[in-house]
Amino acid sequence: MDGKRDDTDHLSSAAPANVVFENLHPAQTESRAELLAGLQRAQKRVDPKYFYDAHGSALFEQITQQPEYYPTRTEKGILDDYAAEIAACCGADCVLIEPGSGNSEKVRLLLDALRPAAYVPVDISSEFLYATAVKLGGEYPWLKIHAVCADFGSPWQEQVQLPVGRRVVFYPGSTIGNMEPSQAQAFLSGLRRWLGRDGGILIGVDLHKSEARLNAAYNDSRGVTAQFNLNILNALNRQADGNFRQDTFSHRAFYNSELKRIEMHLVSNEAQTVAVNGGSVHFRQGETLHTENSYKYSLQHFSALSESAGFALEKSWLDADELFSVHYLTVA
Ligand code: SAH
Ligand code: AVI
Repeated sequence: MDGKRDDTDHLSSAAPANVVFENLHPAQTESRAELLAGLQRAQKRVDPKYFYDAHGSALFEQITQQPEYYPTRTEKGILDDYAAEIAACCGADCVLIEPGSGNSEKVRLLLDALRPAAYVPVDISSEFLYATAVKLGGEYPWLKIHAVCADFGSPWQEQVQLPVGRRVVFYPGSTIGNMEPSQAQAFLSGLRRWLGRDGGILIGVDLHKSEARLNAAYNDSRGVTAQFNLNILNALNRQADGNFRQDTFSHRAFYNSELKRIEMHLVSNEAQTVAVNGGSVHFRQGETLHTENSYKYSLQHFSALSESAGFALEKSWLDADELFSVHYLTVA
């Protein structure tokens, strides 16, 4: 490899025979400059991809189990109920690529119906991805797994040799909602070029609903989302030589009804100067660091977005309460 190593490098040889693990070391790619630029903006901000170190991935998994966080269990219900129809849309023997695969829980609901030629989980969180791929490979010995640790916003496809076959991207969780709509369109357009004429996208999208339900989902009563939000300060400390203290910031999440998104921020509890990268950054009392947006879509808006990116919406599946949607898109 290229001399950049982390804890997963020495483990790769212990993976089951059906698992390949490739680490493109995304955390080391320009992260310091990116983090510093975000802290210098009038509204300080950090990209939500920095939530996901091993601890952040474990906290996200806990969020998905909180009673207030409806998206995961609702989407799993849809995938489970419609697995046969979904598999028919995706077609047999595809190479199934999941950007931001996390704990790969959802793909399990499709594997028996879909029987893909290979599964390609792609995630930025190297140790969590490795452990997940090894576990899945052990439980599905017939499944070829080619795990890639990469930033899915980078041209990672150019750096790996994927299994040959018709490509279907599986993008559940409404991870697309963490992008600005313009970025989401660019991301989908990029996939269109890469998928080829016969490819498809199976994508999960969170829908508009009552503000009370949305606010509760991002302010769970056990405070797991708050811990997840505060954990991003560890990435700033590690990757930008910061000395942020979690006890001087508080979690804030609210629905912005004009922009149709949940916003997550960390609020500085006091006026403070934080050391970063040999310099310093000042926070006024009450000033915020914007950590994430989670856009919610109407069916019409999502359909227009996918069409503008060059896809045709073949089929949509919703739960009975119309909280969440799953769509199959083909290249138009
Ligand atoms: N697909 C899973 C997990 C969704 S959580 C599900 O639906 O439950 C979002 C996942 O995307 C996390 O595992 C996180 O590590 C990963 N992720 C976020 N930003 C990323 C990026 N830029 N590149 C690669 N992975 C990313
Ligand atoms: C990964 N992503 C879709 C989650 C969301 O709901 O936007 C991340 C999350 N942030 C707070 N809770 C969950």
